[in-house]
Amino acid sequence: MEYFEELLKKPSLFLDESKLDMNYVPGKLPHRDKELSLLSQLFLTLITNPNSISRKILITGKTGIGKTVTVKTFGEILKEVSAKRNICIKYVHVNCRKERTSYKVLIKIIRLINKNFPKRGYSPQDLLENLIDFLTNQNIHILIVLDELSYLINKGEDLIYLLTRINDDSANVQQRVSIIGIVRDLSCLNNLDYSTISTLQRNIIKFSSYSKKQIFDILNYRVLLSLKENVISKDLIKMIVESTYTNGDIRYGLNIIWKAAKIAESRNLTFIDNECVRLGSQELVPFSTLDVLKYMSSQKLFFLLSIVKGLQISNMTEISFLDVIKRYYIICENIGLNPRSNSQLWNYLQEFKRESIVLINILSEKIKGRRASIQIPEINLPKLEKIITEILKLKEIDI
Ligand SMILES: Nc1ncnc2c1ncn2[C@@H]1O[C@H](COP(=O)(O)OP(=O)(O)OP(=O)(O)O)[C@@H](O)[C@H]1O
Ligand SMILES: [Mg+2]
Repeated sequence: MEYFEELLKKPSLFLDESKLDMNYVPGKLPHRDKELSLLSQLFLTLITNPNSISRKILITGKTGIGKTVTVKTFGEILKEVSAKRNICIKYVHVNCRKERTSYKVLIKIIRLINKNFPKRGYSPQDLLENLIDFLTNQNIHILIVLDELSYLINKGEDLIYLLTRINDDSANVQQRVSIIGIVRDLSCLNNLDYSTISTLQRNIIKFSSYSKKQIFDILNYRVLLSLKENVISKDLIKMIVESTYTNGDIRYGLNIIWKAAKIAESRNLTFIDNECVRLGSQELVPFSTLDVLKYMSSQKLFFLLSIVKGLQISNMTEISFLDVIKRYYIICENIGLNPRSNSQLWNYLQEFKRESIVLINILSEKIKGRRASIQIPEINLPKLEKIITEILKLKEIDI
């Protein structure tokens, strides 16, 4: 008990720690006014003329620049405005990386608006019809946000195809479903059929990356919400802005601030100093990567571990695809696992690239003799290895 008592006696540097959390949706979004206003314009008809149209929007932009948080904020605005006018609009935000199949996504949507819906026994097509019936009976319009949509598209799931075609063939029918898809880049669309692409490409909102000044305003605002006054100086925030700008992901800056404040507290300081920021910036694995790792299959984790170990043992900045495969075979043999085929491993590698974990320099792409060198430039390798083995341990796999 005294451990707690000791800690509770210490004055905290935080006003509210949770406001630095990456999933927190803050009350304001500095420098995303334009995007919020554009979304409002595009969805205005849902309010002025309910169920007359179905909007399909695609949002793109690099990682960590506020796509998710802006759309969630827009969802809140839409809910408030429609409730005021007694128009029934439901907002459902689904992350396709976490709900990996059309079926899971649909079940998630349906159970959010109809809690009693049974979990099994339907095909995606059935589920969709069921959803439309429910919306029609209850006179609801639904805005479905498919966040990190590339995960569904790349797996060849047909949901986006089904969703973009609802009501396609029936004029004068009430339109019940609108969609916002969020993807980091548009290249994943190439895997779709022509007509789905053209539907989605009609309304694309591109989120631009933040400038240094904008990152400063955003981090400064999150500092005001989360830390007590004068705990961090403007100069130190500027220092954090520099590395956040290089990384590009606002989560990176939020994480450094949180860590630096924790370090300052553990050292009984009343404010964050240079050293706390320096230590807080070290050994960081970006939050976005952590999240990706948590949901990664064990097979993919083994392969990533082979890259990490290979890079560490060779002490070089890059490693060849073939060397990684050799290391991967050793890991598989040690734990008695059937290795995946080389072409499957090649696919994993492409996915790591999309997830911003590795950089690949392709030397030759012939199926038999795929030659590429792989780097992990952004992430501290011992830390990454530790995290992967910890995640595998949680899955009861000891390496
Ligand atoms: N303008 C802003 N004001 C306040 N906080 C922001 C702003 N933009 C981004 N953030 C914060 O930065 C973090 C990353 O934003 P978000 O999760 O929306 O990124 P994203 O573009 O969806 O990234 P990804 O492509 O990796 O999913 C979140 O914690 C979010 O709250
Ligand atoms: Mg996001």
